[in-house]
Amino acid sequence: MASVNVLVQKKWLLRISKSLHGNKSASRLFSSSSRCMTVMPAWVIDKYGKNDVLRFTNDANFPFIRFPNEVIVKVHAAGLNPVDIAMRGGSGSASLSMRRDPYRLKQAGCQFPMILGREVSGVVMECGLDVKYFRERDEISHKPKSLSHKEAAAIPYVATTVWSALVNTGGLRKDNCADKRVLILGASGGVGTFAIQLLKAWGAHVTVTCSQNAVGFDLILDNVGGDTERWALKLLKPWGGAKYVTLVTPFLHNTDSLGIADGMMQSAVTFSTKALKHLTRGVHYRWGFFSPSGAALDRVTEMVDAGQIRPVVEETFSFSQVPQAFEKVEKGHARGKTVIQVFENSTAP
Ligand SMILES: NC(=O)c1ccc[n+]([C@@H]2O[C@H](COP(=O)([O-])OP(=O)(O)OC[C@H]3O[C@@H](n4cnc5c(N)ncnc54)[C@H](OP(=O)(O)O)[C@@H]3O)[C@@H](O)[C@H]2O)c1
Repeated sequence: MASVNVLVQKKWLLRISKSLHGNKSASRLFSSSSRCMTVMPAWVIDKYGKNDVLRFTNDANFPFIRFPNEVIVKVHAAGLNPVDIAMRGGSGSASLSMRRDPYRLKQAGCQFPMILGREVSGVVMECGLDVKYFRERDEISHKPKSLSHKEAAAIPYVATTVWSALVNTGGLRKDNCADKRVLILGASGGVGTFAIQLLKAWGAHVTVTCSQNAVGFDLILDNVGGDTERWALKLLKPWGGAKYVTLVTPFLHNTDSLGIADGMMQSAVTFSTKALKHLTRGVHYRWGFFSPSGAALDRVTEMVDAGQIRPVVEETFSFSQVPQAFEKVEKGHARGKTVIQVFENSTAP
């Protein structure tokens, strides 16, 4: 079993904690209600580092509802993303501690033991008093009925990232895609395999590999970054509102290395310099970010149940194999998503 505190209004995953179904922990008994639980098994880290910082414990604190708009979710399966590997190494720690402790009242290191993860499929165990959208025993986040928890866990983070990048930042919608040519760089991983299916379902012309003479795209989604920006922007259609949306930004690196204020300033300067430079060449340069959206997940659920989108799960690991799952994602060359199945019987409530 695993649980996650979810800020329901925005469906923002605050904290994920996992515990094994049926594990006979000496320190407590499991029950179907979270109310009598105090500890649970979990994978935690006590410091940032390589894969050897992952530690299994039977005594992780069970999450509790701190705000009336939170729910506790029993996680049946979890998707693993490159960002989880980066966060194990400390990436984003400056902005995370700013969010967790804006007035710096707590001691350094108080975030440990930390439980990593941000993408789950599971069942609501308990709701805060203000929660209207979910009820106890609901499958989150309104899981497509046609999918198992293992398949559904491959969707929420990449779906909301793609939605944010393509719809909110890129301006694409179901009703304006028919005449759009879209290039996706690095399309074989989690984000790319989802983005291809969404755009195809909306009728866009999607290209995922290109040669030097493939030009005239309306939108490029860059999942690769680095050198790519030097050549790929030239493939956009100039002066026609074409957009380059990159998911690989220096934002977290800047706040980690320079601190929140200077890091945000540096990011603003970098972004506006590039955006202005490319605007003078007739194309729009944008940064895309994961952005939680219940409305986007509801639309995606409909598309999955209508058979328009299928999750692409490359490999599944059991909960005892969490370190191996981290190793696999860290090696790169993804061909879909990596999922950790917490329950063998993923239909169990
Ligand atoms: N900004 C945000 O909020 C946000 C949110 C989600 C993801 N991201 C970022 O977006 C990127 C993609 O995420 P993901 O989950 O899809 O990662 P992923 O599952 O690891 O997939 C990345 C894919 O890119 C391919 N790739 C790498 N270098 C390439 C190159 N030079 N040319 C063509 N393909 C290349 C990889 O295949 P090969 O290695 O075999 O080439 C891999 O299949 C990651 O950098 C991630 O950190 C950012």
